[in-house]
Amino acid sequence: MTKVLVTGGAGFIGSNFVRYALQTHADWHVTNLDKLTYAGRRENLHDVMDDPRHSFVHGDICNAAVAGPLVEAADYVVHFAAETHVDRSIMAAGVFLKTDVEGSFVLLEAARRNPKLQRFVQISTDEVYGSVPEGSSTETDELRPRNPYAASKAGADRLAYSYWATHDVPVIVTRASNNYGPYQFPEKIIPLFVTNAMDDLQVPLYGDGGNVRDWLHVLDHCRALDLLIHTGKNGEVYNIGGGNEVKNVDLTHTILEHAGKTASLIKPVADRKGHDRRYSLGTAKLQGMGWQPQVPFDEGLRETVAWYQANEWWWRPIKERDPAYKAYIEAQYGKR
Ligand code: NAD
Ligand code: TYD
Repeated sequence: MTKVLVTGGAGFIGSNFVRYALQTHADWHVTNLDKLTYAGRRENLHDVMDDPRHSFVHGDICNAAVAGPLVEAADYVVHFAAETHVDRSIMAAGVFLKTDVEGSFVLLEAARRNPKLQRFVQISTDEVYGSVPEGSSTETDELRPRNPYAASKAGADRLAYSYWATHDVPVIVTRASNNYGPYQFPEKIIPLFVTNAMDDLQVPLYGDGGNVRDWLHVLDHCRALDLLIHTGKNGEVYNIGGGNEVKNVDLTHTILEHAGKTASLIKPVADRKGHDRRYSLGTAKLQGMGWQPQVPFDEGLRETVAWYQANEWWWRPIKERDPAYKAYIEAQYGKR
């Protein structure tokens, strides 16, 4: 059995990756280390929790006593665990530095002690490049992160690289664009807007709605990671972009259409502080290795909306019964 340590596997992308990995690799045993913060939920893993090839460990990546031995026992580490929401990093950045930077440091230190480690995948983000007015970011571009989340991720991204350059830890760094799909926490634009629309609540569009994000289906992300784990080159950075650059206002109209609602639900609100105008990833490097996104955005978005419609059991408890979620929504958007 190949021993794979996934961190943050109870979150959105991590849980999709765990499910994908168990389905795709019969010879993988996945250990899943997750702190179960507000964003990490056992519900995300409901269908794989009892799989004998999946072991769930409830713990913090910053805790070397817990995380260290798991890293030391692994053949591959796929490190997703992070604080991930830009708006929360604007409200309070401390936990972003703690988890995203220090947590990565703890894992990388342990990786130094594992001579049989074959791959350490540092999951970074397109946000490390900062706002890109024109053209597309390539892997060698300067990093210009512009919000505390992106800056923390950039710190971790370069720290991971340094552990390859200095200590020969078999690191690859991946920078993906905005993911969408099932099990995304309803604070990010797509699940927030879909679930609001289902309840005829307004959808808060920041600024003029002209900001552009490049959307990547989470399963296309998983397939890219699988390819890179097997054929990536240590010390290298790989962009993973969906090639679907969409303005928020257009995305919002399409979501409302799929949800069977009208544009009257759109509520223009004050812009996010330091709001990056546009992200755009050049993906020639990954495409040269044989990867192509397989999910057309129209289809993927329609299916994603349908997933939230069909899985109210998953999101209603968060939106209706989680006091921390309600407090966050009120702090971010004001009282309804
Ligand atoms: P998420 O917020 O849905 O999940 C994060 C997970 O990490 C949760 O399960 C949480 O419990 C866990 N976690 C947080 N702190 C932890 C700690 N100290 N110890 C152990 N576990 C901890 O995030 P996501 O959207 O799935 O993103 C996963 C990774 O992908 C992150 O590293 C993020 O920066 C990166 N990324 C995300 C996107 C995106 O669009 N969502 C795009 C590019 C890169
Ligand atoms: P988000 O899903 O938070 O991802 P990121 O900030 O990592 O790109 O936001 C995606 C885009 O949607 C971003 O330009 C901000 C915008 N947005 C809104 O207009 N309203 C909202 O309520 C949210 C959460 C995001």
